[in-house]
Amino acid sequence: MSAASTPAPSLSNGSALPGHVAIIMDGNGRWARQRKLPRIEGHRRGVETVRAIIDATRELGIRYLTLYAFSVENWNRPQEEVGALMGLLEYFLKRETKTLVKNRVRLLTIGRTHELPAVVRTQLEAAIQATAKFTDHTLVLALNYGARTEVVDAARAYAAALAAGREKLNDGSWATFRRYLYTADIPDPDLVIRTSGETRVSNFLLLQGAYAEFVFSPVLWPDFTKADLAAACAEFARRERRYGLTSEQLKPIPAASK
Ligand code: IPE
Ligand code: IPE
Ligand code: MG
Repeated sequence: MSAASTPAPSLSNGSALPGHVAIIMDGNGRWARQRKLPRIEGHRRGVETVRAIIDATRELGIRYLTLYAFSVENWNRPQEEVGALMGLLEYFLKRETKTLVKNRVRLLTIGRTHELPAVVRTQLEAAIQATAKFTDHTLVLALNYGARTEVVDAARAYAAALAAGREKLNDGSWATFRRYLYTADIPDPDLVIRTSGETRVSNFLLLQGAYAEFVFSPVLWPDFTKADLAAACAEFARRERRYGLTSEQLKPIPAASK
């Protein structure tokens, strides 16, 4: 696979690399249980995978990586686990910011990050600020994220803009509404990967993933490697993205999309 730093836009089929890969990192708890370890050990190992996959994404030439790290529903886990996850997030940010800067990776977040513990918010803000000027690679952390919550937040912001006269109801379109999503400045994911063998979306990027390709890997997140990521990308390259058209319409010249 070529490691071109600027991949061709992956608008249709072919060998194009996905410009944006989004991952539902799942299976930490089962990884730990298989080893008779506490769940938090699985999360610790999961953080090591996060570091490795950020590097792998960059090496493969994928420009955007979104990682689903904590859902709005995950607050309902045992308090001890939630506390440990927040601690790991703080530790990750503290340790990783230098590496992100060194590798020129910009950090963004999606989700209700204002509801995260203050210590985590402080680390997040520092990391976001330190990496804000980078443009080649972007890491998006989905934190306290839920697609339904995102739609509610976007609808509220859109309604406020309408009431203030900044938007006109008759102009309403997807192109307009999407600017109120957390992902306003982020392209839609091309490829969504879920690890651990579960085949559900669990409230992740429901609108942005409308035309994403999905790959479900049986590998538990702590065991997920660069080779598994490359295999998912190879699977992506074999898919034909039709966007509602017929296969014949896409060949030989893809129809111009509006
Ligand atoms: C993913 O692993 C990490 C988070 C959701 C924070 P899980 O903790 O969900 O692992 P399983 O699904 O119990 O194996
Ligand atoms: C989805 O995994 C959330 C994250 C990966 C952060 P979960 O383990 O929470 O999802 P369900 O509960 O199996 O649907
Ligand atoms: Mg899970």
